[in-house]
Amino acid sequence: MTIEEKLIEGVQAAVKSLYGFEAPAQQVQLQKTRDEFEGHLTVVVFPFVKAARKSPEMVGEEIGKYLVENAGDVVAKYNVVKGFLNLVISDAPWIDLLNQVNADPQFGFQPVTDKSPLVMIEYSSPNTNKPLHLGHVRNNLLGSALARIVEANGNKVVKTNIVNDRGIHICKSMLAWLKWGNGETPESSGKKGDHLIGDYYVAFDKHYREEVKQLVAQGMDEETAKQEAPLIKEAHEMLVKWERNDSEVRALWRKMNEWVYAGFDETYKMMGVSFDKIYYESDTYLEGKEKVIEGLQKGLFYRRDDGSVWADLTGEGLDEKLLLRSDGTSVYMTQDIGTAKLRFQDFPIDKMIYVVGNEQNYHFQVLSILLDKLGFKWGKDLVHFSYGMVELPNGKMKSREGTVVDADDLMAAMIADAYEASKERVKQTEMPEEEAREVARKVGLGALKYFILKVDARKNMLFNPEESIDFNGNTGPFIQYTYARIASILRKAKDQGVVIPAQLSTVNCQLSTKETELIQKLNQFPVAVRQAGTDYSPSGICNYCYELTKAFNQFYHDFTILGETDETLKLFRLSLAQAVAKVISLGMGLLGIEMPERM
Ligand code: ARG
Repeated sequence: MTIEEKLIEGVQAAVKSLYGFEAPAQQVQLQKTRDEFEGHLTVVVFPFVKAARKSPEMVGEEIGKYLVENAGDVVAKYNVVKGFLNLVISDAPWIDLLNQVNADPQFGFQPVTDKSPLVMIEYSSPNTNKPLHLGHVRNNLLGSALARIVEANGNKVVKTNIVNDRGIHICKSMLAWLKWGNGETPESSGKKGDHLIGDYYVAFDKHYREEVKQLVAQGMDEETAKQEAPLIKEAHEMLVKWERNDSEVRALWRKMNEWVYAGFDETYKMMGVSFDKIYYESDTYLEGKEKVIEGLQKGLFYRRDDGSVWADLTGEGLDEKLLLRSDGTSVYMTQDIGTAKLRFQDFPIDKMIYVVGNEQNYHFQVLSILLDKLGFKWGKDLVHFSYGMVELPNGKMKSREGTVVDADDLMAAMIADAYEASKERVKQTEMPEEEAREVARKVGLGALKYFILKVDARKNMLFNPEESIDFNGNTGPFIQYTYARIASILRKAKDQGVVIPAQLSTVNCQLSTKETELIQKLNQFPVAVRQAGTDYSPSGICNYCYELTKAFNQFYHDFTILGETDETLKLFRLSLAQAVAKVISLGMGLLGIEMPERM
């Protein structure tokens, strides 16, 4: 039982015995005692005043006295301020709580069982014509954090990714490579495969725009020019060939996609994200067509004179939505229907979460209705975890073509910055080069991840590299540094031969508020995990980790740990520090942030 639960029971017993009043548990309101008063937890007595027929002060006095006399193992002292009963909790339950934190290696997490619901979470979902950029970084970090948080809340989680590997965009890269590539490969150029393909996509675009410009100069209007430019026509021909299974086009497509996947794999590995099951649009879009035809036959959709197939969603307050073009080719929505079908076949999905940017809000609103119409039981309740844009301050890290920030470049720059910063900080203390590199990787990526995840996902944001790596402030490195500090204290204790007992026996040290507050903070971790799970909010975990870290630093500022002469108190504080380190690492682990043992 938690201290809160014990207190609620105690107060219920008090009002029953004092006033013969059966108070439901919700009526017992507990708050953290305000800083200016003595106490840990405060009971609001107003709900009992009527039954007691006494003044709030009197009721507070009587309940307080009752608790000290009858629940003395929990309540040591009390004082009453107006209608608020401030309770000082005795040491024993605090020690109990600390022991609970230490006893459970997965403290705060719900176990996953056979009966747990299955949640599928889709994130990343790139197109195969260019490398991942800053927007994908936010997507991947949010998606993988969400997956860990949902799992920590006792759900089975399947992490998935839909790779949009077919379509006109890929044909553009392929065509450009055929025209200007001279057989260039990742090996021959030393470029990552995804970067190589991305460069050809850019090259296509450059030449295409020149063609359009020339046609316009010759008197064609821009819209027509965009359709009539020879390059785009050629790309379309290629797509038609692809759809017809033309062996040459398919072979080239396979080869180039393999290059891209090898590149993506490196990026994912560096980012620390992974998937349980990857779907490819080239496998799902035909399933989508089939589903649409099925819906057409069932009368859910209708065909226009030109042969195109539409869903009429005006009844739902939306518009009419194209599902198949007049030439029978599929659209973005079609592949999503097919992907849903395959996922549903492969897994007993109870809930589906799509992590996709907010520019696709409408798409997912429509998808939800379509899937529901088509009979997917989770269609109606599908969650579009919609997040805002992320940008860098002007002028920072623009990629080759000057528009997007490349994910690989960004991660490398963060790690390099962390390495430089640590060089400056720890000039004297020597750390083997290999460890220094590893620490820089953890810190650089920790800075990036934390800075992005601490922002409410729905909001647009600016990623500020300098601010993110600052050691003082609400940053990943600040939390990592505190962790490393605790790790160093624990190492020293070990060197001195101190053995921290796994479970402390009850001491009577009159624990200070700084100490009990820290235990209270630790005890809020399960609540924070639950809340983050209900709200789908990685930022809630960031917040919690920051608060815990601050509370530890305040404690450490006021008290010595290894210098403490009272042995019992020293062991208590070591045990407390150890628990803080563990919870920090569990919390940050949910965010995909690794903890360095030294910094
Ligand atoms: N590949 C798409 C894009 O880059 C995003 C796919 C999102 N997921 C989905 N199921 N539609 O815009």
